[in-house]
Amino acid sequence: CGIVGYIGHGTSVPFLLDGLRRLEYRGYDSSGIAVIDPKGVQITRAVGRIDQLATAIAEQKPSGPLGIGHTRWATHGPPTEVNAHPHQGGNGQVVLVHNGVIENFQPLREELIAKGYVFHSATDSEVIAHLIAECYDELAAETDPEARCIQAVRVAINQLRGTYGLAVVFPACPQMMIAARFGSPLVVGVGRGVHYLASDASPLAGHTDRIVYLADHQLAILKANDLTVLHRDSGVVRHDIQRLETETQQISLDGYPHYMLKEIHEQPDSIRNAMRGRLDDQNATAIFGGLNLTPQQLRSVDRIILTGCGTSWHSALVGEYLIEEFARIPVEVEYASELRYRNPPIEPGTLVFGITQSGETADTLAALVETKRKGHRTLAINNVVGSSIAQAADGGVYLHAGPEIGVASTKAYTSQCCTLAMLALYFGRLRHMSYEAGQEFITALRRLPAAVEQSLTCESRVREVAEKYQSATTFLYMGRQYNFPTALEGALKLKEISYIHAEGYPAAEMKHGPIALVDEHTPSVFIVPRGTTYEKVIANMEEVKARSGPVIAVTCHADPAIDNLADDVIRVPETPEFLQPIVSVIPLQLLAYNVALLRGCDVDKPRNLAKSVTVE
Ligand code: G6P
Repeated sequence: CGIVGYIGHGTSVPFLLDGLRRLEYRGYDSSGIAVIDPKGVQITRAVGRIDQLATAIAEQKPSGPLGIGHTRWATHGPPTEVNAHPHQGGNGQVVLVHNGVIENFQPLREELIAKGYVFHSATDSEVIAHLIAECYDELAAETDPEARCIQAVRVAINQLRGTYGLAVVFPACPQMMIAARFGSPLVVGVGRGVHYLASDASPLAGHTDRIVYLADHQLAILKANDLTVLHRDSGVVRHDIQRLETETQQISLDGYPHYMLKEIHEQPDSIRNAMRGRLDDQNATAIFGGLNLTPQQLRSVDRIILTGCGTSWHSALVGEYLIEEFARIPVEVEYASELRYRNPPIEPGTLVFGITQSGETADTLAALVETKRKGHRTLAINNVVGSSIAQAADGGVYLHAGPEIGVASTKAYTSQCCTLAMLALYFGRLRHMSYEAGQEFITALRRLPAAVEQSLTCESRVREVAEKYQSATTFLYMGRQYNFPTALEGALKLKEISYIHAEGYPAAEMKHGPIALVDEHTPSVFIVPRGTTYEKVIANMEEVKARSGPVIAVTCHADPAIDNLADDVIRVPETPEFLQPIVSVIPLQLLAYNVALLRGCDVDKPRNLAKSVTVE
C-alpha cells in the first residue's frame, strides 16, 4: 500500500493524485483521498486503478490545502469502496490512511464494537481510526486542540501490535497533519510553505529535494510552515534534512505497448549499467564503492546468506552457484519471510545480503533489520537509491537498472544476476582466484550485453511458440545447475502475468513428481545450453517425449539430439555456463509476455499482485 499527504496552500489534490500514481506499484486494487478545508472533510474513494479515482475526483471536485491519500493492496477485507482508505473514526473526529498490518485488530475491534463504535469496513485500519477517536474523546479536558490530537494518536498507537505507517488528520485541526511510523516507511518532504508525506520518496521528486526519513516510533507533526518530529513515548527529536537524489527522468513507454516489453528490451543497457565502472582490468577484479567493509573484513567472511522474495530470491539462487564456485564461500539462500522468524545460528564471519529491486519489500527489510540487530553485517543489492532497505543495510551495491515499472520483474533480475557474478569475482579475487581466471571472468562479463542483445532476436520465434501453446493450462519449466533458477523464474513469469499454472524444477527432479503432470496438453520448457549436465537434461527431455509431452527447448547450437526431440527450439547465444542464466531467461520473459498478451491479460499490472509488497 502507499500513502501520500500534503499540507500547504492552494489545493492538495493534484499532488495527492500524482503521488498516488507514482506509488501505484505498491498496490492498485483501490484508492482514495480525504481533503480537509475549514468547512469539513471530503472523502473520495474508488475501486480499481488510480484512473478510477481520478474520474471520481473529476466529478466530485474536492479541494483544500490539507489532504491525505492511499493506494491499497488488500490484506484485511476485499478490494471494495468501503474497504478503501481513508477511514474515519468515531463520528468523523479522525480521518486516516494506514499502511501495514495490525495483528491485534480483532480484540481491539471487538472492544470498540462493545463500546458502540460502528464499523463500516472489514479492514484493520478502521480499528486504528476508532481507537484514535476514542482517545481523542477521552482527552476532552485538554484545552490545546493540537496537543489533544497529538496525544490521542500517541495513546492509540501504543495499543497497536503490528506495523503501521499512518497519516492522520482531524477536521477540528485543519492546520495540522500527524504521521506515525512503525515498520512501514514514511518520508516527509520539506517545501516552501508546504510539507509533503509519502511512503517513499518517489512522489516527492519534482516537488522538493529536501527530505526527512522518519524512524520507527517517530511521529511527525506537519504544518504548512513547520515540521516537528517527536518520539512516540517522549519529546521532540532532532531531524536531519537530507538531499533527495532521484533520477527524475521521464518514465515513458518509448513507443512500446507495455513497460514489461520495454524493460525486457532494455536489458543489454541495464546490464551494461550494472557493470559500468565496476570492472577493474588491471587487477582482474570488480570494484564496489559502497560495501563499507575493508578488504581485510571481506577476506574474513566465511559464510554468506542471500535473502529476498519472489524474483529476487531466484537471483539469490543464481548467486549461490556463482559465489560457491568462484569464491569458494559457503552460501545459503533464504526466503526473507522465513529468515526473519527463524533463529538460525549465524556465525560471526557471516555476511547477509538482502536482494531487492524496490528496496521496499517488507519481509526483506525485516530480515535485514533482524540479522543486523543480532550484530551481523548486512548489505543490500538494490535498485532504488535511498529506499528503505538501502538505508537499513550497512552498505551495498546499486543495480542502476533504472526504474522498473512492469510488475513482473525482468531487467532487475538480470542486473541482480550480473551483480552477483561481479561479487563472486570480487570475493574470488580476494582469496584464491588467479589473475588469469579473473581476466577471463571479466572478458565473459564484457561480452554479456551483446549476448543479451542477440538473445532478444528470438522474439518472433517465441511469439510462434506462444501462439501454439497459449491455451495450455499447465507448463513445466526445467533446467539444471545454473539454469535451475532460470526454470523457477520462467515459471514464475508465466504464472504472474498469464495466470497459467506453471512449475519450475531441477530437471532431474522431474521424475519424482512433476512427471505425473505430463500429457499431450502440458508443454515442458527445457533450458538446455551446453554444459556439465547437457546430456542428462536431454535424457530428461526423452522422458517427457516418451509420455507424449510437448517439449520446448531453449538451447544454443544446433544439435540433432535436441532438434529431433523437441517440438520447438528457441536458440540463444552461448556464454560460459555461469552467465548462461542471464541470456537464457530472455526467451522465457518473452514467452510469458506473449502468452499473457494473447490471453488478453493486463501485462503490466497483473491481478492480485503488487510491484512491491510492503506488508508482510
Ligand atoms: C513482488 C513483485 C515481484 C518481486 C517481489 C520482490 O512480489 O511482484 O516481482 O520479485 O515482490 O520484490 P523486490 O522489490 O524486493 O525485489
